[in-house]
Amino acid sequence: MNTCASDELSTRLACIIDDLAEHGWSLQTQFIAPTLTHDLAEECRKRAAAGLLVQAGVGRGALAVVSEGLRGDHIQWLDAGQSVACDQFLAVLDELRQALNRALFLGLEDFESHFALYPPGAYYSKHLDRFRDDDRRAVSVVFYLNDDWLAEHGGALRLHLADGRLHDVLPQAGSLLVFLSADMPHEVLPATRERLSLTGWLRRRGDAPF
Ligand code: OGA
Ligand code: MN
Repeated sequence: MNTCASDELSTRLACIIDDLAEHGWSLQTQFIAPTLTHDLAEECRKRAAAGLLVQAGVGRGALAVVSEGLRGDHIQWLDAGQSVACDQFLAVLDELRQALNRALFLGLEDFESHFALYPPGAYYSKHLDRFRDDDRRAVSVVFYLNDDWLAEHGGALRLHLADGRLHDVLPQAGSLLVFLSADMPHEVLPATRERLSLTGWLRRRGDAPF
């Protein structure tokens, strides 16, 4: 796994591309400037305090089913134009989208994302980030917003790797986890403290033949 702390976004994006092509996932521990990470965390807390985050469901519409995972987080979807910090985050993710298209020909067309807040004790059981009725999600992206996270706080994102190994990622502020949505079962373990993130998906066209 390549962790690139380079100042150049293009270098960090190239690391993610290499990791995805080779392993199907990538972890970058210093992906975004601490000031922007801090602003995004503040915004998440503000939205939560204003009651804008709502209990998340599983699956979509009539096909929402328990097999897609049981989850205890509260979320709010992001739209462009809501804040400077969110727009900066969306702009970086658009750079990632374009870089992935250029290098891996993934045909990614858009990015959807939401703030997520897991209260202490909340978890998201093992699942895949694909809906039965919608296979547009190709690449999952989770950006973490929690300062000073320690292993003893719990709350890891546990990846179930293809070779049967488990890999735990701590939700430490500034870390970006990227993985191929179709191939990577994962779960969120319960934490002893509140856990904030921005979670999103780079999506293909609806009519893509894969
Ligand atoms: C999800 C998810 C992981 C995380 O929202 O689908 O798996 O670490 N989130 O918050
Ligand atoms: Mn998931």
